[in-house]
Amino acid sequence: MAIKRNKTSNPKPDKKERLINTKINQEQDNIEESIRPHSFDEYIGQKDLKDVLSIVIEAAKTRNEPMDHLLLYGPPGLGKTTISLILASKMGVNCKITAAPALERPRDITGLLVNLKPGDILFIDEIHRLNRLTEELLYPAMEDFRLEITIGKGQATRTRSIPLPKFTLVGATTKVGALTSPLRDRFGLIQRLKFYEPEELALIIQRTAKLLNTSITEAGSLEIGRRSRGTPRIANRLLRRVRDYVQVKKFDTITQELAADALDIYQVDPQGLDWTDRLILDTMITQFNGGPVGLEAIAAATGEDAKTIEEVYEPYLLQIGYINRTPRGRVVTIPAYQHLGKI
Ligand code: ADE
Repeated sequence: MAIKRNKTSNPKPDKKERLINTKINQEQDNIEESIRPHSFDEYIGQKDLKDVLSIVIEAAKTRNEPMDHLLLYGPPGLGKTTISLILASKMGVNCKITAAPALERPRDITGLLVNLKPGDILFIDEIHRLNRLTEELLYPAMEDFRLEITIGKGQATRTRSIPLPKFTLVGATTKVGALTSPLRDRFGLIQRLKFYEPEELALIIQRTAKLLNTSITEAGSLEIGRRSRGTPRIANRLLRRVRDYVQVKKFDTITQELAADALDIYQVDPQGLDWTDRLILDTMITQFNGGPVGLEAIAAATGEDAKTIEEVYEPYLLQIGYINRTPRGRVVTIPAYQHLGKI
């Protein structure tokens, strides 16, 4: 199976690398590539999703047809790209990977579509960020496997309809509510990826540690798993940082104690919160009386980008019940006050 990555799609590296950052840069991308599971047997967690997709794949293969278009949504770092690559491998087709910000001009998407082979998967990350022209080109492509292009201007305008091979679009998004309904309606399958349990993350960490030739105890992997915000990308990143620490301290196995010591130094607390999470909660408590407070006000008071707060920090704080969303804004909960030692 060939993995084709549209090079311009790589997100810019962040100003400062944060341990809980879920974005990836080129170097991290290469590391992720080397530890990615290649089959559902190797892929830990997301059982319900794997069950659904296994049936869909089996049925499509029996009918000798490509799979229905699939929309995967959920917080970043949970494995949407990996799922898409595994689907391609199971179907025996190529997977072309791109992201909406790389599809600026109409010719970006048309170039990708006309070069697909029958059955190929086209993976578009951050699909909620497509511009209108590109999105409108996708409608007939998804529905009838045709490219409808307009040539010329004014009176001389003509449309041409070019047949495309049957393909599967896999769209990925962290914000399913931001998709337009015509686009959402064209996906035959819409599936959510859930945060992982600490025990599942511990298994992922043990698998990665083996691939990195690193020795780790079960309790060590669980300690890292508990601090990984339900996210494999973070778990694997924390594992590499703990491995650095253990190597420098001249130990040969990652134990629970060493993992906890290392992550304390990196200021990732036992709940997986880093200083930005704590800043957000602390600001909401001290400046806004615990809320309700709007996203923009939190962003202004913390100096963090509103989109990053909404897409990276908030989902996990909501998941562990440290904040609630109300019609009047976000509020901090009692467990968060307790966690921060405020009551
Ligand atoms: N690495 C990252 N995500 C994984 C998963 N779900 N299973 C196994 N290894 C992984």
